[in-house]
Amino acid sequence: MKYIVSGGNKLFGKLTIDSAKNAILPIIAATIMCDEECVIKDIPLYLDVMEMTLILEKLGKKISFKNGNLIISGAINTTSVIMAETKTLRSSIFMMGSILSKYRKAILTYPGGCDIGKRPIDIHLAGLKKLGIKFTFANDLIYCDASKVFGNVVELSYPSVGATENIMMASTLLDGEITVIKNCAREPEIVELARFINSMGGKVFGAGYETIVIYGVKKLHKTEFKCIGDRIACGTYLIAGAMCGGRIELDGIDPNFLLPLIVFLRNSGCNIDLFSDRIILENFSRLKSIEKIETETYPGFPTDLQSPMLVMQTISKGISIIHETVFEARFKVASELQKMGAKISVSERYATVVGVSKLKPAQVVCPDLRGGAGLVLAGLVAHGKSEIDEIFHIERGYYNFDKNLKSLGAIIDKVD
Ligand code: UD1
Repeated sequence: MKYIVSGGNKLFGKLTIDSAKNAILPIIAATIMCDEECVIKDIPLYLDVMEMTLILEKLGKKISFKNGNLIISGAINTTSVIMAETKTLRSSIFMMGSILSKYRKAILTYPGGCDIGKRPIDIHLAGLKKLGIKFTFANDLIYCDASKVFGNVVELSYPSVGATENIMMASTLLDGEITVIKNCAREPEIVELARFINSMGGKVFGAGYETIVIYGVKKLHKTEFKCIGDRIACGTYLIAGAMCGGRIELDGIDPNFLLPLIVFLRNSGCNIDLFSDRIILENFSRLKSIEKIETETYPGFPTDLQSPMLVMQTISKGISIIHETVFEARFKVASELQKMGAKISVSERYATVVGVSKLKPAQVVCPDLRGGAGLVLAGLVAHGKSEIDEIFHIERGYYNFDKNLKSLGAIIDKVD
């Protein structure tokens, strides 16, 4: 599948932001810890979410989608997560924490995911080892033994999102034990996972801060839960609005989750109004470059918005230097953008962008999820017809991306 985009239109209108992919994925894994019915409301059908539910179904969970809600119930009937799907989905690693919490043993394959650099799991394993969990490795499989698991103080060497979530889940059902995670990730999606676990009767405190404390409980019960809006999708639409010009209104998002982006967009020349769960962006002039953009862990500028922001710099007036500190190979989109006339040079974790007044249409291929979304934004400002291929990358994390942009006035079609 590909998108055919005819650039040049301004964007006007309103969108409601869907629930956050990066909150939903660990939450789906967390349902393994509860045999009763978990209803996750208003679920967008991201490809990653479909893949994750498929894995759970293969493990024995009952899965259904009703009125836009995802309903998960029953117990898994195997603790071996060995299937093709886990090779393409990084989030399959979350099942390690949730399965070990409830069943105290697991066998998993190494997880897959976006090709944005090495994605080791050493911080996950080091943290889980601190809880007394033992690992052996053979034939590309990870054998986990949590028969002697206990609560402990775990200090992460880096505030990894996935490791924080995995250790939080592994500690949830350690009845009577206390686990403290220090130097943990503070992303809003971590807070969502804690809120979800607590909605089932878990006792997780401090999520969103540098130290999380988990009081282990014996059992979790049924729940109904709705996740926060997707800050990365929202940020992508804001950048689209800034690049194309016009006036867009995005509902269903707490602007506090996007403050570094909002500062950059204002410094670029956009007018932005903020409300408790709504952002309005307006721009009718050429954007100014941001001199220095550095990705950081939350609450810094998110690595997941680096590609769309890089694309924005290609048409902004001036020079921008982008430093990617989180992932080592997140500039793959640069060579595709060069085909569209962008002036970018990449050296290791730095990209230098000299803004041009126009991009030209081209045939390009999505290198990864966020880079793919960035290419669509480039297509929206290149006058003429661009073809963006391998859009399955985009559909892993954006739901109805083409339809949403179309509703704002963009010319974009999905074709075989
Ligand atoms: C999550 C997000 C992803 C986002 C990233 C950083 C989900 C499903 N995905 O990914 O969209 O880009 O956070 O905000 O929530 N690292 C190690 N060893 C480990 C774990 C991580 O070296 O054991 C490194 C990674 O290679 C990477 C950095 O730490 O360079 C950040 O990774 P992490 O925070 O764990 O990101 P993910 O949970 O994979």
